[in-house]
Amino acid sequence: MNLILKTINGIKNTQVPIWLMRQAGRYLPEYRKIRENFPSFIDFCLTPEAASEVTIQPLKRFNLDAAIIFSDILILPHALGLKVDFQEGKGPILDKIERTKDLKLNKKALQKVYKAIDITRAILEKDFPEKALIGFAGAPWTVACYMIEGKGSKDFLDARKFCYTNKKDFEDIIELLIEKTSEHLIGQINAGVKIVKIFDSWAGILPPELFEKFVIEPTKKIVDNIRSEYKDIPIIGFAKGSGSMNLDYAKKTGISCVAVDHNTKISWMKENLDEKIILQGNLDNVLLFSDKNDIEMEAKKILDTLSDRPFIFNLGHGVLPGTPIENVEHLVNVVKNYEKCIKTKKIK
Ligand code: CP3
Repeated sequence: MNLILKTINGIKNTQVPIWLMRQAGRYLPEYRKIRENFPSFIDFCLTPEAASEVTIQPLKRFNLDAAIIFSDILILPHALGLKVDFQEGKGPILDKIERTKDLKLNKKALQKVYKAIDITRAILEKDFPEKALIGFAGAPWTVACYMIEGKGSKDFLDARKFCYTNKKDFEDIIELLIEKTSEHLIGQINAGVKIVKIFDSWAGILPPELFEKFVIEPTKKIVDNIRSEYKDIPIIGFAKGSGSMNLDYAKKTGISCVAVDHNTKISWMKENLDEKIILQGNLDNVLLFSDKNDIEMEAKKILDTLSDRPFIFNLGHGVLPGTPIENVEHLVNVVKNYEKCIKTKKIK
């Protein structure tokens, strides 16, 4: 079994697995080269051969333990019939919605994602048999934020106002997204991913009661839906920015692994969470712009903290455009060369 799968299943071993959010992206010249061929980012994501090729790119450079299928959380709104456009420097622009009435799922678009997974799975089996493939989707709250706001935002004020003032319509949108997100994740597992991750990038802007209702409950329903078909599939949850609410999120949703951002103290998560829930995280992605010694020192602090339980190394958020490639390489090597010495003796 691959290292990341072993770890996420709670099996102790001497090595720490590593993969990075946005490990495929604009910081890689080979990514930018393929990206140039596609004026539309959505077309790029929905061209299975291209999506598969960029999924594999980081594995060719770095000794990572997993690939994450190249796609986007906004593919689902696109498949639901909304126009989704990515403009240089402006981020995503979408048709705004206020109700679910006109949304109809076009399965053909999602099947392109499954095709990309199928192609990638075959390449991994042949060329990288030790690497796992991860699938993903946005969580209902985060995807609803984009669909209601119609664009990216620092605070999603319109979406938050909408959730207070149009309760019934908002709940309908969340219910629809629970159903379609579950289907999309199950579709990805059918196509061959071995782990799925639910990205709730804007979870942290909700107060605790609404966090419970629109982050924890929908995630739990999605986890239950997936597990009713795939009982043992590992599920990673990422409720970015949720601070102390991360604990309830990890305990109540049924996820196998909680991805911790860099605003949350991972030692505190460790102290408060049973070892059965695997931790993933949480080096500051901006630190990768610093020098190698600092990167190594901070990475080792995290490794030392988590070395006595199953743990997956990652960043607190995605690799940013402009990140020096040699620093990413250095980080991967630091983690790969770190043996869980003390614990190894205990494991034996
Ligand atoms: O992690 C990976 O390597 C897999 C691919 C992946 C992408 N987006 C590719 C992408 C994943 C997992 C995502 C998730 C995603 N997309 C999230 C959740 C994670 C997070 O970062 O919080 C969110 C909020 C989105 C929505 C989205 N897509 C935004 C805000 C942007 C940035 C817009 C911009 O112009 O920078 C995107 C575009 C996007 N998705 C890019 C990539 C590599 C950059 C687009 C490009 O190449 O021009």
